[in-house]
Amino acid sequence: MPASQELVLILDYGSQYTQLIARRVRECRVYCEVVAPTLTAAEAAERSPKAIILSGGPDSVDREGAPGLDPGLLELGVPVLGICYGLQLLARELGGRVVAGHAGGREYGRAEIEKREPGALLNGLSDRETVWMSHGDHVAEPPPGAKLLAASSAAPVAVLEWPERRIFGLQFHPEVSHTPNGLQVLENFLYEIAECSGDWTTGNFIEEETQRIRETVGDGHVLCGISGGVDSAVAALLLHRAIGDQLHCLFVDNGLLRKNEAALVMEAFKHRFHVPVQAIDASEEFLSALHGVTEPEAKRKTIGKVFIDVFERESKRLDSDGRLRFLAQGTLYPDVIESSPVKGPSAVIKSHHNVGGLPERMKLELVEPLRWLFKDEVRRVGAELGLMEEFVKRHPFPGPGLGVRCLGDLTRERLDRLREADDIFISELRQAGLYHSVAQAFAVLLPVKSVGVMGDGRTYEEVVVLRSVDSHDFMTANWSRLPAELLSKAASRIVNEVPGVNRVTYDITSKPPGTIEWE
Ligand code: XMP
Repeated sequence: MPASQELVLILDYGSQYTQLIARRVRECRVYCEVVAPTLTAAEAAERSPKAIILSGGPDSVDREGAPGLDPGLLELGVPVLGICYGLQLLARELGGRVVAGHAGGREYGRAEIEKREPGALLNGLSDRETVWMSHGDHVAEPPPGAKLLAASSAAPVAVLEWPERRIFGLQFHPEVSHTPNGLQVLENFLYEIAECSGDWTTGNFIEEETQRIRETVGDGHVLCGISGGVDSAVAALLLHRAIGDQLHCLFVDNGLLRKNEAALVMEAFKHRFHVPVQAIDASEEFLSALHGVTEPEAKRKTIGKVFIDVFERESKRLDSDGRLRFLAQGTLYPDVIESSPVKGPSAVIKSHHNVGGLPERMKLELVEPLRWLFKDEVRRVGAELGLMEEFVKRHPFPGPGLGVRCLGDLTRERLDRLREADDIFISELRQAGLYHSVAQAFAVLLPVKSVGVMGDGRTYEEVVVLRSVDSHDFMTANWSRLPAELLSKAASRIVNEVPGVNRVTYDITSKPPGTIEWE
């Protein structure tokens, strides 16, 4: 973790918004970490935080076994902000009364708070503000000595402060976009109350991380797989900045990449950044292993297995003198939080699939230069390191690539057909200036033939589906309402220019019930 930056600790009580709090704090250029709610005052003191935030959570503070708070945290002299469940914990700890959910006291969704007294937390906000509430329980009576800064109709205590103890609480969620001035509240807390200076910048991160990589790696050599995605590209550039020719990059072309992808990667790394990359054309090996495999999960497993085989074999070839000691991996901070053993009570355990058992199998240690970053921070670091827009702002692309977009048999001919159709759709989307307005767009090739008429002849050829979705987190998504003219132009170009396709459809399924990918 960065050593010299100002630090805010966020205790995770299991709210679905905890990560969002962390992202907002980082947006305010303040470094923060999400930690378990069992954090003790002594552990906190060791890290010298500038402030502590208690997240929301699904529990009731009075329930037997509900996560609590080390009261010593409130004696450190460090400002503490409780949000929702966090406020209720503080109120109970300091002698207030918390009432468990009853019809009149619950609030889910938009609400309005009204100011009662001035206080630093609400500086710059109007007397009435729209906020986002999501609570069953509420604080019915503020603890003695607390100042009530604002109330809503269902929450008589919406904002509290104990000015002399530097303790603050919000019943609403300042971190969500439905609280229009929520960022102002967080800024007030971080800058005015906790006196943070905002020293978390991409420039500082790059400097610190470069140093840290050098310390970790020493004179060892590092292997880094490049995928064409932004994470591995940024990881490789950071590593190269830190250790130069101790870095060895491998790019495996699995035959399932988008049109020109391999060329783009090689061009960027070799010619622009002068980072040596060994490109391996393993498409034949992948396609022959995939011959006859049509079931989606079987495809994924086969692709994963062949990848590990190829990667291991090629890295041995590249490292004939046995200098490799480390494997770089583009793990991001959300992966770290989600697979951490000490975590908030309701967080979901997710084993992330990028590892694939490679480090153990190859007996290499891991280097994870991005493990403290959120995705948008990775993009900013990439941009600062000079990575081109094609990488930094590219739509996500699944690990199994076109393998899960080419339904049915994965033959070279069908994959080429899909590559052409996809390329036409994406270039029309860019031409219309809409590529960056949608979250993810691509073409899918169906293993279905339909009848058409071209010129004077009957055709019997395959069907392409165009898919474009709007989404913030890819957990849910809406199909994009793209202009009819754009769809029409893309469709007619595909039918005219891509041999073997005579029909194009547009997917209007949202997620749920559909998924974004077709397989
Ligand atoms: P779904 O299809 O589950 O996709 O709605 C959500 C997001 O995840 C991507 N995706 C994958 N990424 N390996 C990956 O690395 C996979 O097997 C995989 N499947 C889906 C998908 O592109 C979308 O962004």
